[in-house]
Amino acid sequence: MEGKKGLKIVTIGGGSSYTPELIEGFIKRYGELPIRELWLVDIDRGKEKLEIVGNLAKRMVKKAGVPIDIHLTLNRKEALKDADFVTTQFRVGLLDARKKDEEIPLKYNVIGQETNGPGGLLKGLRTIPVILEICRDIEELCPNAWLINFTNPAGMVTEAILRHSSITKVVGLCNVPIGMKMKIAEMLGVEQSRVHVQFAGLNHMVFGLDVFLDGVSIKEKVLKEMGNPENAMTMKNIAGVAWDSDFLQALNAIPCGYHRYYYKTDEMLAEEIRASQEEGTRAEVVKELEKDLFELYKDENLSIKPPQLEKRGGAYYSDAACSLIHSIYTDKGDIQPVNTRNNGAIASIPYDSAVEVNCVITKDGPKPIAVGDLPVHVRGLVNSIKSFEITAAEAAVSGDYKKALLAMTINPLVPSDTIAKKILDEMLEAHRENLPQFFDSVEA
Ligand code: G6P
Repeated sequence: MEGKKGLKIVTIGGGSSYTPELIEGFIKRYGELPIRELWLVDIDRGKEKLEIVGNLAKRMVKKAGVPIDIHLTLNRKEALKDADFVTTQFRVGLLDARKKDEEIPLKYNVIGQETNGPGGLLKGLRTIPVILEICRDIEELCPNAWLINFTNPAGMVTEAILRHSSITKVVGLCNVPIGMKMKIAEMLGVEQSRVHVQFAGLNHMVFGLDVFLDGVSIKEKVLKEMGNPENAMTMKNIAGVAWDSDFLQALNAIPCGYHRYYYKTDEMLAEEIRASQEEGTRAEVVKELEKDLFELYKDENLSIKPPQLEKRGGAYYSDAACSLIHSIYTDKGDIQPVNTRNNGAIASIPYDSAVEVNCVITKDGPKPIAVGDLPVHVRGLVNSIKSFEITAAEAAVSGDYKKALLAMTINPLVPSDTIAKKILDEMLEAHRENLPQFFDSVEA
């Protein structure tokens, strides 16, 4: 990171509609995060979007008057050469694949859930081989770079990188913790900077074990407020089915929006079925949102991130991404919740597994802050998801059908091995073109 005039950042999946978030974050921090070059990389199928988003990015930096050179390319290797940070935000199979991830399980009365559910398994099977290829390119072309992954299923992807690549400088990132903190501050009507949440768990399975306002615990108050259906605290992509107050008190930890899929499975299933019939699955809703966003992005007069982007579930993730890069670069030592190697921070999760936990961010990366352990009543679910992630990652790497069946069956949203097999078989077939490890026979 030294000796050059500024940093080189590479964003894989640069044509994503989220990219203006990143650009805005980099512009905001330019004074302390001198980026010389930003390379937006995409694949041939994403060429048009890359062009549109890339041109908006160029207008944004020009308007802000910051000298960041934006490069658009379909050549990943060319982009990666000597990068300092690589961010990944791609979707293998695009939104059409997400639609299948969400829709097929519903036919069997199972929630698809594109991250920690059956949909997440198939998304992982498509994504992990690609991310591992990117890891190999990083080792060859920019071995000192930090890889910051937002690609879902972010927990499973981080787990796969830790277990199946030789990359160690990797951080998985999500906007759920930042979203929870923002919503708590909003609910209490206070500045975000006065709120501190002790986050611990896994990606999309993270709890606020405690929450403080000016250093004083206000967990009970927050749990009480969350019991009010108007304060249900959710994200744009998750139905805000109301929490039961007694359950929240008993849980004694702040759940994230995704916990609804596991603690309110029947109500969430009913809601997903209703939504898929009335307005389409989330993939279809997002397709429409994206169409509108790209129309806006095309406008030559637009040179800021449009507020409409906040309709996406991943809104504000740039704050998380840019703060993280900034803190690593400046060795800031602040606390951020990220996905990293547990290293004993949460006692009941394997030492070498990825966890989402508050970390001190240094130039050597995130240093997880030990929480002791999760409350006994949430350990089971958290460990089920961890076992699911590890097994799914093994299936993705090996292309082993039986491993994939195992992963599908042990997912807490799937009721039996019989249903698991039906869902898996239909989904493998539906995603055939993006699952070469399951279908291409190896030549002897
Ligand atoms: C949340 C999650 C992200 C996910 C996003 C989906 O913010 O934290 O991991 O990608 O929602 O949002 P979308 O608008 O695509 O449904």
